[in-house]
Amino acid sequence: MKYSVERTPHLDFAGQSYSSEYPNLHRYPATMIPQLGVQILKEFGIDDGVMLDPYCGSGSSFTAGIACGITEMYGYDLNPLAVLITRAKFTRLDPDLIHRAYRALRDNVFEELKQESTAESFIPEFSNIEYWFSPEVIKALATIRCHLESISDEGIRTLFSVAFSETVRDCSYVRSNEFKLYRIKPENVLTFNPDVYGVFFACLRRLRDNYINVYLRNLNNARVDVKLGAYQPNSIQHNVVLTSPPYGDSRTTVAYGQFSALSNAWLGVDDSRQIDTKLMGGCVVKRLYEEGVIAPAIMQIAADDMRRAYEVSAFYVDLARSISAVAAGVKQGGKAIYIVGNRTVKQVQLPTDQFIAEQFEAHDFRHVITYQRSISNKVMPSRNSPSNKAGSTGTTMHSEYIVVCEKNVRSPDLSQLRLF
Ligand SMILES: C[S@@+](CC[C@H](N)C(=O)[O-])C[C@H]1O[C@@H](n2cnc3c(N)ncnc32)[C@H](O)[C@@H]1O
Repeated sequence: MKYSVERTPHLDFAGQSYSSEYPNLHRYPATMIPQLGVQILKEFGIDDGVMLDPYCGSGSSFTAGIACGITEMYGYDLNPLAVLITRAKFTRLDPDLIHRAYRALRDNVFEELKQESTAESFIPEFSNIEYWFSPEVIKALATIRCHLESISDEGIRTLFSVAFSETVRDCSYVRSNEFKLYRIKPENVLTFNPDVYGVFFACLRRLRDNYINVYLRNLNNARVDVKLGAYQPNSIQHNVVLTSPPYGDSRTTVAYGQFSALSNAWLGVDDSRQIDTKLMGGCVVKRLYEEGVIAPAIMQIAADDMRRAYEVSAFYVDLARSISAVAAGVKQGGKAIYIVGNRTVKQVQLPTDQFIAEQFEAHDFRHVITYQRSISNKVMPSRNSPSNKAGSTGTTMHSEYIVVCEKNVRSPDLSQLRLF
């Protein structure tokens, strides 16, 4: 295949962040800035039809889709926190009901505080909870959770749970500037005494206002259906896939599961500490990926470290399988737009952009173009662990690739037509 890459400075969005146009309801790692999605959809004249994001994270592609006039969208993610955030952004709610539910929750929690009781049954069961939260914080979080769970409207409960999740993070001993679970220094633990109720209600007011003034206002007649799980083809055929898949396995690139583990546990997810093993490349198999454009890089890594080569291979096995499913769900003439970074392992850069194009071409697509943009504004770990050894780090990538492929249009087989 002839593979062309075009450097596109206008897609860098230098100096812009996510929140410079769209307030985020919850932090999430490696988000796509919606402005990028909007620009790409516009450049390809995509302003209607059905959109899919098979790894939707916090739902930025849907923000872009809505801004461009798309009204039917489907999202999937294996991380329950991602699904919660995306559902909260794009579920249509009545503002009066939100204000009423806010006041009721505030009054109920206030009444509860006079009782001195502990909502014991709302404390999640996970080992070493005291390592991450003080007893006072655990008690306050359990009280809030107890009253959150009694909200009968599912949409409002989902929206308010996003503020709860941010509160869990902010009131824990987790270092706020890391995606992985690292605890703050012991001397800081001693003096860390957050006002959990104050943090929660301030976060809830901010979230409520951003939801009503931005997300609800823009939603118009759009419908976004988000499911927890990996995408599997179904009866729906999509006109466009706009997505940013993970760049590699969570353990050595971006730890989506670890980032979300405490929130997920407090939100009632049973296996909250196991999520990274379910994500792409999370389950290592002893098989090298020996086909196509990725093979030389894998062989180079294997020559140095066979275990790392297996780990890296596992990611591409999963990505290939996922692309095969996604490709089946795209209409003829439809587009797959994947935004991805090429990470480096053992000083070997992995051409993930070309791999994606190659996989789509193997499933009846043609590669249209790949754009290259600089990612100075993306919230990523500034250093990663390319050798996967503790303490050994390298800088993460500075470029991102936007791979655009189009599903071939087959002319009808006239020989099969019966003439009457
Ligand atoms: C780069 S993030 C997506 C970020 C998103 N574009 C946003 O702006 O928030 C990749 C997402 O893929 C999810 N993921 C990883 N493996 C997956 C799989 N096999 N199926 C579905 N989602 C997966 C992760 O949980 C993560 O949320």
